[in-house]
Amino acid sequence: MAKAPKKEDAIDLLKQDHREVEALFKEFEQLEDDMEAAEQVIETACTELTIHDKIETEIFYPAVREAAEQEEVEDLLDEAEVEHETVRELIGKLEGMDPADEKRKAHFTVLMEYVKHHVQEEEKEMFPKLKKLKSLDLESLGEEMKERKTELMAEVGVEMEESEDKETT
Ligand SMILES: [Fe+2]
Repeated sequence: MAKAPKKEDAIDLLKQDHREVEALFKEFEQLEDDMEAAEQVIETACTELTIHDKIETEIFYPAVREAAEQEEVEDLLDEAEVEHETVRELIGKLEGMDPADEKRKAHFTVLMEYVKHHVQEEEKEMFPKLKKLKSLDLESLGEEMKERKTELMAEVGVEMEESEDKETT
């Protein structure tokens, strides 16, 4: 008999998000001079990263911090939080930038490099350590994160509809 599929835990969810943004980055790298398509990718990636950032910094990191009483894990968390701050700054800059700005592509490229590095660190260094933490319930944390993600996606959906109605001035 086939085994029941494993429930998705918090780490599975974060990894799925990581794979999604990586796919967008790859798409961007293959676009070359199609500026319109590049804009689409930049917008989607920024939205996804913003949601991912909220889920991690609001729910995941605080829960890990509470469960982990190891200096090693705390150091990794500190680093990860600083990296998230930088990602937020870069996204903020991108969002405030004129799409015609020549530096936009450069900003996004730096963001991509940065996120790739951060993803590597989480998956290679942090996640393996967290799986060993007995006091951390990754499954119920995953449930909580999933709910929050649905909520955040709905919020973004509403915003997107609103801006579509807006006429360009
Ligand atoms: Fe992260």
